[in-house]
Amino acid sequence: MKRIILSEQEIDKICQRVAKEIDEKIENEEKIPLLVGVMNGALNFMMSLMKYIKHPIFTDYIRISSYFGTKRTNNVRLIKDVSFDCTDRTVIIIEDIIDSGYSMKFLTEHIKLNGAKKVYVCALIDKAVAREVEVPVDFCGYVMNENQFVAGFGLDYNELERNIPFVYEVDENDLKKMDELLEKDKK
Ligand code: IMP
Ligand code: MG
Repeated sequence: MKRIILSEQEIDKICQRVAKEIDEKIENEEKIPLLVGVMNGALNFMMSLMKYIKHPIFTDYIRISSYFGTKRTNNVRLIKDVSFDCTDRTVIIIEDIIDSGYSMKFLTEHIKLNGAKKVYVCALIDKAVAREVEVPVDFCGYVMNENQFVAGFGLDYNELERNIPFVYEVDENDLKKMDELLEKDKK
């Protein structure tokens, strides 16, 4: 039995609540705020979240790389930049999970350098216990107080499990099965 961290229903409730918080925050913006989803992990969350946002928004995507398997590297690389002009605009970065904080630190600095008026951070999961560098999480779906590896709903293990509709804790058995699948795929 999988240990479910966030069920489909819980994720939907989170999206409704967070969308409301975002709507309240961007009520009086002069320029249309920009939502930037961090590919690929945040795509599922962004799609579910933005359908509940009522305020007019622009959407864009950014891609970075910093993670391999269940082991993190602090070396963040930009793979695809935003296409929108962020100048004088409020930007909300949408992430699946914030772990050490290195990726989000890089992203907020990068978007600020692009001229954004204000940068907000929104994450489905805040793995607060694993934080190594401070990053403010302005909108948070769920705070995880255990340092465990999770997958599903966009979150992956070596690109697997993004399609699973809920978030679960990956155990030794799951890892073994996925490693076998990946090994077979190489042949
Ligand atoms: P950070 O730079 O350490 O904060 O790592 C953030 C990125 O690592 C996230 O965007 C995820 O892609 C990935 N990540 C961190 N923890 C997990 C996890 O438990 N499961 C899947 N991906 C994770
Ligand atoms: Mg990610």
